[in-house]
Amino acid sequence: MSSHDDKPRPNGEEKPNRSHAKDAQDKNLPDLSRRRFIKGAGIAGMAASAGALLADRVVEALPRPQTGAAGAAGVLGPGEVPVTLRINGKTQTLNLEPRVMLLDALRNHLDLTGAKKVCDRATCGACTVHIDGRAVYSCTTLAIDAQGREITTIEGIGSAEHLSPMSQAFWNNDAQQCGFCTPGFVMACTAYLNHEPHPTREGLEKSLGGNICRCGTYMGIKDAVLEAANATKSKGAVA
Ligand code: FES
Ligand code: FES
Repeated sequence: MSSHDDKPRPNGEEKPNRSHAKDAQDKNLPDLSRRRFIKGAGIAGMAASAGALLADRVVEALPRPQTGAAGAAGVLGPGEVPVTLRINGKTQTLNLEPRVMLLDALRNHLDLTGAKKVCDRATCGACTVHIDGRAVYSCTTLAIDAQGREITTIEGIGSAEHLSPMSQAFWNNDAQQCGFCTPGFVMACTAYLNHEPHPTREGLEKSLGGNICRCGTYMGIKDAVLEAANATKSKGAVA
């Protein structure tokens, strides 16, 4: 059994030799159409009840802009174009093909590897970041569509030395095992708590249904959110 110090840090730091996420990347899964929320998409035949359930979920796909990013100038790409993103309070301009997803821009161009690529199809929530305060799947959000918005990653809400209140609560409640889902859960839980400062276990089960932990740490996660809610009641937002 691993020691307490061997636990993955809930701030998204990566450790070497974690092959299962790479396996998921290597599958080169097709990019499905943007789904508004995560888990209910797999519940075929339950569309009517799923509609109400999905509406409660905290993580979502970023709606496409009304007008294309190319605007009046016409179609952009397929070559690289300048894309200006505001991430964790810093404005940065990258040269990206318009097809590049926000998750890939973060991980491959900015070395912000806290958000994980696991399913790459808006299903697991491992890639969750905040855009304008909302929890969003970065794996199915085009980087070019995130221009002009405030993007926050797990690196933006704390560090290994100074964990965010939610990351600290995950640590305190042993709410991670392999840790691959953890940054996404921390971001989803943080957004949820900012929206709902008085969470209940039942509400959490609905609202966090867009994130999946295959290690089954859900009990610890729920305990962590309730602890973070108590710890931050008098302080307001948790990030
Ligand atoms: S990697 Fe984005 S939802 Fe799974
Ligand atoms: S801790 Fe392993 S997937 Fe959640």
